[in-house]
Amino acid sequence: MASTKSSTPANTSVTAPLHIVSPLIPSPALSVLCGRSVLLKMDNLQPSGSFKIRGIGNYIQKRVGEGYSRVVSSSGGNAGMAAAYAARVLGIPATIVIPESTPQLMIPRLQQEQAEVKVHGRVWNSAHEEATRLAKESKACLVHPFDHPDVWVGHSTLVSEILQQCGDERPAAIVVSVGGGGLLCGIMKGLHAQGVSDVPVVAMETVGADCFSAALEAGKPVSIGDITSIAKTLGALMVTVGVFELMKGVSISSHVVTDKEAIEACARFADDHRTLVEPACGAALAAGYSGIIKKLISDGTIPDKGPVVFVVCGGNIVTLDILAGWKRDFNVE
Ligand SMILES: Cc1ncc(COP(=O)(O)O)c(C=O)c1O
Repeated sequence: MASTKSSTPANTSVTAPLHIVSPLIPSPALSVLCGRSVLLKMDNLQPSGSFKIRGIGNYIQKRVGEGYSRVVSSSGGNAGMAAAYAARVLGIPATIVIPESTPQLMIPRLQQEQAEVKVHGRVWNSAHEEATRLAKESKACLVHPFDHPDVWVGHSTLVSEILQQCGDERPAAIVVSVGGGGLLCGIMKGLHAQGVSDVPVVAMETVGADCFSAALEAGKPVSIGDITSIAKTLGALMVTVGVFELMKGVSISSHVVTDKEAIEACARFADDHRTLVEPACGAALAAGYSGIIKKLISDGTIPDKGPVVFVVCGGNIVTLDILAGWKRDFNVE
């Protein structure tokens, strides 16, 4: 396979996972709101700022093992940050092609990870075309943000860690955000692999980035046409078909919240836990702050024993000023 010329040979001796075992901590505030012990899987603390390093790190390590020595990604968001971080640790060059729509603050963040940043096109599709061309031309490994089994296997480590950290107490449910469905696939893969596919999954999206909910309604992945939600990093037009294969035997409850609810959740979470996250993560937290979990407990969808675990997926595109701006724009108190 690959044989690109890079002045820096890949560091193939890095075989340990590139993600950390993130803490699982109690949330007193969400526990009160949900009427049940709530635990937070703090993947916002991952070195790339989000859970993405689990899957993207695994994918890139596999490709480096096959001989690739350069990566190209088309994501200016959290997958791109994960690709840049993984490439730096593995000692190989990374080129991240971002569309003009990516917030400027991501350029220095990606450059801090020693990635070369190229701005191409107005939206992700044109950046992705350019990344595909560049990857082909330089025989580099093209990194897809969510649609590959090696990405899902990497994300599935969340489940083994959660089970280990919960000890004898089995989780009553796991709450996740859904964009293209890579995280959801990883969670389901992990549940199957650990023999606990009866643990219910609560899948959260925002209005205007709700391709999973649309797919469930249609019975197959369908394009939602446009991304109108503020949760841009959830903005896949179509969910991966992998979710339909992996959801067999898993109880999934799908919910869509408004942008305002996602932002309210980010703001309340920042106050409750002194931690900034993107609306992509706020969508999952809104399951607690907007009363969805409480309802699922009272109607029996979530069993009456065990803690509810929220995956705090994190995200880089947020600062104190950005959060204040969202609060203003959406009239969040
Ligand atoms: C912070 C954050 N949360 C959740 C997601 C959704 O992940 P997926 O696309 O794998 O469903 C993303 C996707 O980029 C993200 O950046």
